[in-house]
Amino acid sequence: MSGKKVSLKISSTILSPAPAVMVSCRGLEAPCDKDNIISIAMTSTLSTIPPLVHISIKDVRFSYLQIKQSMEYVINFAGENLCYALDWCGIKSGKNVDKFAECQLTPEPIANLSTARAIGESPLSMGCRVIDIVKAGSYEVFVGEVVSVEADPEILDGSRKPDFHKIALLSYTNGKYYTLGRHMGDLGFSGRAQAAAV
Ligand SMILES: Cc1cc2nc3c(=O)[nH]c(=O)nc-3n(C[C@H](O)[C@H](O)[C@H](O)COP(=O)(O)O)c2cc1C
Repeated sequence: MSGKKVSLKISSTILSPAPAVMVSCRGLEAPCDKDNIISIAMTSTLSTIPPLVHISIKDVRFSYLQIKQSMEYVINFAGENLCYALDWCGIKSGKNVDKFAECQLTPEPIANLSTARAIGESPLSMGCRVIDIVKAGSYEVFVGEVVSVEADPEILDGSRKPDFHKIALLSYTNGKYYTLGRHMGDLGFSGRAQAAAV
């Protein structure tokens, strides 16, 4: 790449690609007391100890009401095989449709949550309990403490850690879906290469 940079339209979502995820949730009272899925691009790690993550949701979403009631949600990673469902759950509202049934997905209990259920077909799910809700512009940030992580054994590496190459994670940026790329090295590889060169 060469040449002078040009200015683009100001955007916070340009920080993507982070993985786009399918967040499953369920409220406590009618009409919110049914399993639902919302597609979420605005998610990130906030802290390692305690393990905190966030999802940002607009207050007009049906899932917003559901999560406010139960104070629980499940972040389900989406691989290539879930791209269609990821898109569909991001254009339909659970107020009007049963997204689990329409996408032929299975709600499954996840450890340490009493209301929200995971997506059985997702290779990796994180159960989260909401510990804080912070207003951020037109969204609300649901800070979640991760209380369970459940994975399909087939996507684990030899150290029982998720091998993201096996999942082929999806990302969403500027209205387009991508798969996240190749494994480029392990933590500290730059330092080891430098030491070897000295
Ligand atoms: C890939 C993708 C990512 C999205 N990310 C977000 C997000 O981070 N926050 C949000 O409030 N809505 C997001 N949306 C929109 C919601 O998923 C969409 O409005 C959905 O229909 C809401 O469903 P619900 O009414 O059942 O909650 C996204 C949509 C797509 C397709």
